Amino acid sequence: MPGPVLSVTDSRTGRQYEFSIEEGTIRAIDLRQIKDSEEDFGLMAYDPGFTNTACCRSEITYIDGERGILSYRGYPIEQLAESYDFMSVSYLLLHGELPDTQEYGNWASQIRQHLDVPENIQNLIGSFPQDGFSMGMVMSSVAALSSYYPEALDVEDEASRRLQIYRLVGKIPTIAAYVHRRKVGQPYVAPNKELSYAGNFLNMMFADDASYVVNSSIEKAMDVLFVLHADHEQNCSANAMRSVGTSRTDPYTAAAAAVGALGGPLHGGANEAVLRMLEKIGSKDRVAAHVKLAKEGEIRLMGFGHRVYKNYDPRAKIIKQLASQVFEVTGSNPLLDVALELERIALEDEYFVKRKLYPNVDFYSGLIYQAIGFPTDMFPVLFAIGRTIGWASQWDESLRDPERKIARPRQIYYGFPRREVPAQKSSNVSE
Ligand code: CMC
Repeated sequence: MPGPVLSVTDSRTGRQYEFSIEEGTIRAIDLRQIKDSEEDFGLMAYDPGFTNTACCRSEITYIDGERGILSYRGYPIEQLAESYDFMSVSYLLLHGELPDTQEYGNWASQIRQHLDVPENIQNLIGSFPQDGFSMGMVMSSVAALSSYYPEALDVEDEASRRLQIYRLVGKIPTIAAYVHRRKVGQPYVAPNKELSYAGNFLNMMFADDASYVVNSSIEKAMDVLFVLHADHEQNCSANAMRSVGTSRTDPYTAAAAAVGALGGPLHGGANEAVLRMLEKIGSKDRVAAHVKLAKEGEIRLMGFGHRVYKNYDPRAKIIKQLASQVFEVTGSNPLLDVALELERIALEDEYFVKRKLYPNVDFYSGLIYQAIGFPTDMFPVLFAIGRTIGWASQWDESLRDPERKIARPRQIYYGFPRREVPAQKSSNVSE
């Protein structure tokens, strides 16, 4: 028996078409059959920002934006954040199942073996301007890895792909910490392979001498933050990773593109923008005026709204709770009151209610990062550390997809029709 179909009548020609519906979608290429004449190219779907276009089939991350549900490989994010560390969750994202003890040990040991970054990349980081853009420095360093591992171009080889993933996940915290140390003018702290992934990162960031000891509550909070940021299906940076990867370039180049995409203020750069916004607002009594500006379209409330969530972002809920645990160690962040007031006013305001604009992952994370001692422009870099395994898993999945094709969207051309070059428009015409 034939499956469900979409029946369409083209009012231009009166012709009828039937398209199969599978997994809640029709194949966009089927639309090409719809032509108003023999010469017609055929119908296309126009979708700026891909608001209603599925670009792949994926079994990694599921989001139900209406109900505020997020799961990795079927496991709810709340349960993973509560019971599993970032190493386990990274393994889960890539392999599809949580690791047993032996698998965990092998995976963590592979990542540990790849924490060091080549000396010339350390020199490269040292050559960036001290007041440089942190995400730009991270992006360039990740891209530079491609010149060290040319075998990474063999993207069809599964073992080679795995090796590059170990390297990416292992090296990203080291690159991030070295970028920070460069910016504050302090010597690099080499990775300590005895520490956890999060603990080693904190140590590379903040250990000024041998007496530094990673605080276990902060280490745990950092680990949870990495878990919460680890993947989020087809967002702008994952799409960059997949899209660039479809040309079969190496994963360092694709990951550099993803880091670049993540840095923008509408994506991972929002955590930094939230902090700057809260600092600008300054006090609770100035929140209402700020909200008014947002409603008038003058500004956006950073850390609010999401393309997919039309409900409270489940990650924001967990981060809000995590903030109080961190503040018990670090002391509260004075901007917390401003953030709580902003959330309170926005959630009661018709403008935000009508548009279903809720706090997203970036709204409270910056307050925690600041309390831990990270400089504001490092916040998107922290997001990138957690997200690298998500990008890598998406990239790996795309390379195993039999339907993979090079990303090549269409356009609606609305420039000039063909016209002849004028005889002479300026005096600089080449002879
Ligand atoms: N403040 C005020 N108004 C907003 C906001 C906001 N933060 N976000 C959306 N709107 C309004 C927007 O003006 C529009 O109103 P109208 O229908 O009257 O024109 C409506 O809500 C729909 O907005 P949109 O821009 O069409 O929605 P989008 O899905 O294209 O954008 C977004 C999603 C996340 C880019 C957007 O909500 C935004 O700019 N938020 C602030 C930046 C931010 O926090 N980004 C982090 C996102 S979560 C983490 C991540 O992706 O990395």
